[in-house]
Amino acid sequence: MSLAFLDTGPRDGGNTIVFLHAFPLNQGMWQPQVAEFGATNRVITLDWPGFGASPLALPGNQKGMEGYAASLCELLDQRQVDSAHICGLSMGGYVAFALCRLAPERVRALILCDTRAGADSPEVRQGRLEMAKLIGEDGQHGLEQLIEAMLPRLLSETTRASNPGLVEEIREMMRQSRPEGVCHALHALAERCDSSDLTELIGAMSTGATIIVGADDRITTPAEMRQLADRIRGASLVTIEKAGHLPNLEQSNSFNEAIWEALRRSPQ
Ligand code: MLT
Repeated sequence: MSLAFLDTGPRDGGNTIVFLHAFPLNQGMWQPQVAEFGATNRVITLDWPGFGASPLALPGNQKGMEGYAASLCELLDQRQVDSAHICGLSMGGYVAFALCRLAPERVRALILCDTRAGADSPEVRQGRLEMAKLIGEDGQHGLEQLIEAMLPRLLSETTRASNPGLVEEIREMMRQSRPEGVCHALHALAERCDSSDLTELIGAMSTGATIIVGADDRITTPAEMRQLADRIRGASLVTIEKAGHLPNLEQSNSFNEAIWEALRRSPQ
């Protein structure tokens, strides 16, 4: 099984950056970053199983965030990438943590956006499992309910008021997810382990970490992201104004500038 992916840009000279998408979107969310970085850097994006154009099954029947991280390693093997800048947003960040546990040597530098190291609270976990049950029973109809519940929480007020086209684009991207893939991901989210213990390891990576958060993110708040940055030695924190949980789409210029800065801090 192979994940759907994009591997673009020059093979020599620049950095290799792998962008890991959020739930329940797909690699299409990285379009502004592919456009910005793909001319001078090798850029890889991918769809998690059951999202975008990827098939449902994980290689070797692996489950959870560890399964996603293993499928990422398999793709990196296939593309002959030893290590890369890993940029994960929200669920993509959870997979980046799992990758640090599974294969830290593949992480050249870490960029963690709108994510958290901790596991879910019992209430959040319960909510996810109920949603998975609903989608398991109601398929696309259940998925629509999830989308309409999530959409207003994902974006800043500024984005919702000033960029209805982006709101619609994100809704459509979510609709490309398969209900079974979303169910699997909800279980993976609910069952993911606490990665707080990894902050020491990440701080010890000589290349340093960059933490990015939308100033108006209500899902993974700036306060939480500051705590994460404080726990990682040498990490730098960038707050993107007028953005919610998806700053790479909502304020792509500021977000891209933060990535350029991360590349300057830890070049190839
Ligand atoms: C995401 O954007 O990937 C999700 O909001 C993650 C989560 O619900 O914890």
